[in-house]
Amino acid sequence: MPEIPILAIDGPSGSGKGTVAARVADALGWHILDSGALYRLVGLAALKSGVNLNDHAAVAEIARHLPVRFESGKVFLGDEDVSLEIRTETAGNNASKVAAIPEVRAALLEWQRSYARPPGLVADGRDMGTVVFPQAAVKIFLDASAEERARRRYKQLKDKGMDVNLPGLIAEIEERDRRDRNRKVAPLVPADDALVIDSTSMNIDEVVDLVLQAVRKALPDVGTGE
Ligand code: DC
Repeated sequence: MPEIPILAIDGPSGSGKGTVAARVADALGWHILDSGALYRLVGLAALKSGVNLNDHAAVAEIARHLPVRFESGKVFLGDEDVSLEIRTETAGNNASKVAAIPEVRAALLEWQRSYARPPGLVADGRDMGTVVFPQAAVKIFLDASAEERARRRYKQLKDKGMDVNLPGLIAEIEERDRRDRNRKVAPLVPADDALVIDSTSMNIDEVVDLVLQAVRKALPDVGTGE
């Protein structure tokens, strides 16, 4: 069977990965894996079951039996629609904590790999190109300064009518970066063969164009709908 083409997009929180991954998947007509959502769900499910996030064995057990359903753009945990709840800053920080537990990462590994289906997969995360899909045809590491990422996040949250402050967001982003980059298993680092894009002074269209160019170069037979 021919290998399923995979585009891995890794990078820190707020680098624009999610938006870029969605736009590129749309242009290519490929499936998408939002791996961060899985870690967010593990954190949320643990807290909802009264499990302390420091109890690694119990959190890993939750990860192995996560009652998750993705249905018409929504995410359900059991019967509860948690689509909005997994998107909060608190859920992101809790995801970063459970993501540092090796047994949790092991529990999610094969599940993430099962998303690779024809005609192709855009995989968004922190270790897509290094651990989950080391064979990916194209690897992108999307970065931006912590201040710029916090500013983008601030704007998004303000637009949703939420009460946030910029210095607090910068501090949170820096703490999350530190945890994600320094953990022992699958830390956030660019794969050796990744194309590193610093999007600090780029807009989304420019980043999407660069990523599509990289896909065309690596996979000349893939139509990019443009
Ligand atoms: O991409 P995100 O903000 O939804 O991810 C939330 C957290 O999950 C992030 O801080 C670290 C963790 N994560 C991870 O460790 N590995 C991934 N492949 C995706 C996310």
